[in-house]
Amino acid sequence: MATIINGKEISKTIREEIAKEVAALPLRPGLAVVLVGNDPASAVYVRNKNTACREVGIYSEVYTLPEETTREELLGLIAQLNESPAIHGILVQLPLPRHLDPEEVIMAIRPDKDVDAFHPVNVGKIMIGNFDFLPCTPAGVMELIRRSGISVAGKECVVIGRSNIVGKPQAMLLLHENATVTVCHSRTVGLSEVCRRADILVSAVGKAGFVTADMVKEGAVVIDVGMNRDENGRLCGDVDYDAVAAKASYITPVPGGVGPMTITMLLKNTVTAAKRIGGIS
Ligand code: GUN
Repeated sequence: MATIINGKEISKTIREEIAKEVAALPLRPGLAVVLVGNDPASAVYVRNKNTACREVGIYSEVYTLPEETTREELLGLIAQLNESPAIHGILVQLPLPRHLDPEEVIMAIRPDKDVDAFHPVNVGKIMIGNFDFLPCTPAGVMELIRRSGISVAGKECVVIGRSNIVGKPQAMLLLHENATVTVCHSRTVGLSEVCRRADILVSAVGKAGFVTADMVKEGAVVIDVGMNRDENGRLCGDVDYDAVAAKASYITPVPGGVGPMTITMLLKNTVTAAKRIGGIS
């Protein structure tokens, strides 16, 4: 039976470390979160981010803009936040309404305030291994692995999913830690077979029940990045949890695994941004 990686508990420890660091800083880190439109899941994420900031002493501003916000209005707000001395991190919650181009919006954020690490400058820095911020979800996964005492170097790691937010940067972070990394996606041939090679399997697909026990090697570490609803409307991941837990050595639950870590890494990135902008080493 797998050891459960308790993301809530690990998050709590890291948030206490962050709160101590914030209290000792000569400036107050500030985060602006921008939400456009009425996506209910996004509204919950934004509220959680705001609450988490307060709990560790980070100043936060939330901008809730209507669905029909124009490109000019959104870019105008970002320009204003880029200049604001109280704000060190800017996060525009994705997805955006269809009439707004996420690439253009991300490009408008000052790279040194881009606490999501989605701007091409930050993506490029991650690629060459000389980065200031790491994207929150993949960084959270690495921290869960590290704090559970699991070694990565030399391991076969398989990432399912190739999004810019999770799959691609996750593969890069595992590579930085000297893993042998395979990225799978919807066009992968022989997916189960590839997954069964994994010592560490990271699923970022977004489909409940996608990872079944036959795709998992005995003793593998299984990290579930999925955030789905099951047929009863309950939050669940990508992994068929009970059957896979019987085979894995470590597993992350949903909820209470990767989710809380994403926000924790956002807090960490906001502190990093504030220190860099404020010239604090
Ligand atoms: N939507 C889902 N995940 C994320 C994230 O990490 N950052 C932003 N900005 N939007 C998201």
